[in-house]
Amino acid sequence: MAIREIRKDGDEILRKKSREVKVIDDRIRELIEDMLETMHEANGVGISAVQVGILKRVVVIDLYDGSKPLKLINPVIVKQKGEQEVEEGCLSFPNQFAKVIRPMEVTVKALDENGKKITVKGKELLAQALSHEIDHLDGKLFVDIMEPGTMEYIDPNSNTKEK
Ligand code: NI
Repeated sequence: MAIREIRKDGDEILRKKSREVKVIDDRIRELIEDMLETMHEANGVGISAVQVGILKRVVVIDLYDGSKPLKLINPVIVKQKGEQEVEEGCLSFPNQFAKVIRPMEVTVKALDENGKKITVKGKELLAQALSHEIDHLDGKLFVDIMEPGTMEYIDPNSNTKEK
């Protein structure tokens, strides 16, 4: 496993559309493990492959709630319900947070790291994280949907979690 460089605000790759994964092999599984390590090292709850410079539709999420991290290949939101107004950040925008509206519940279909079809249902923070990470795969960023004037810059020395 290896920690990969996180692409930051201003890097054009963040605006590109990621491609569907056609073959799930050891390279994809290695990418997933590296994404998990990179995300954990940065105290993030989610990261998409594009954020480590790989334009493939792969997302990992860990809410640090004792459940296993989610590893999602070609994830698609098939259902969403309700709304929540949440404070949000992104590993590509260090120390910046803004208010956004996200769905309260989402249902996502994806493949796992062995190519098995899975369905993930998420509420609240998980719904927010799924929605945020899947947006990355289409080059969409939280700053595109933030409520104007709500951007805050947080002291990097405080121990805040980012997404
Ligand atoms: Ni992000």
